[in-house]
Amino acid sequence: MRTTTNPYKMINSAKDASRLLVAVYPRTGFLRDLIIKWRSYICPYEELLRLIPPRESSLDIGCGMGMLMLLLAHSGKIKKGIGLDISSEAIQLARLAKLPKGCEIDFRCVSPDEAYPPERFDFVTCIDVLHHVPSSKQREFIRRVVRANLADTLIFKDVSQVPCGWHGQACYMILC
Ligand SMILES: C[S@@+](CC[C@H](N)C(=O)[O-])C[C@H]1O[C@@H](n2cnc3c(N)ncnc32)[C@H](O)[C@@H]1O
Repeated sequence: MRTTTNPYKMINSAKDASRLLVAVYPRTGFLRDLIIKWRSYICPYEELLRLIPPRESSLDIGCGMGMLMLLLAHSGKIKKGIGLDISSEAIQLARLAKLPKGCEIDFRCVSPDEAYPPERFDFVTCIDVLHHVPSSKQREFIRRVVRANLADTLIFKDVSQVPCGWHGQACYMILC
């Protein structure tokens, strides 16, 4: 995994998040590049970052290409973490992104029923994953995450079914 020092520390807006992500990923093709550039305008990462005080470690379940983990790392919120996803393609891309010096993030491809890592983290995130889980398995998915007792704080977000504008389509559940 490549490492770098990064000039972006403050991520206060979708534009800040987008600029950082464009800077840390290699060019990966037209569609992926579009997602990297525009995802922050759909998913309010800057609001999620505001919820998270600087801590040491995090686990991101359904990390996709690792965007949130990269934003956490480059804004100095985490020093280490694990990102899990069932998509090997997404995990491969996550591994190509630049990390700040001294930050270690392990991006792992997992199967949907695979056991979570045994260690505890300062917080766990699960962002926009639930609507990708078949509806018959959603309840069990949430139970599994909660029962795994991976951290004191779980930040769980999914898109709202009530239309309220692209950037605002978020609903948060924080369990402490
Ligand atoms: C909309 S993407 C969100 C990615 C990332 N959390 C973000 O905010 O950019 C949903 C991701 O959930 C992953 N996913 C779906 N079901 C999963 C499961 N059971 N365990 C882990 N990842 C899962 C998909 O592969 C996909 O990468």
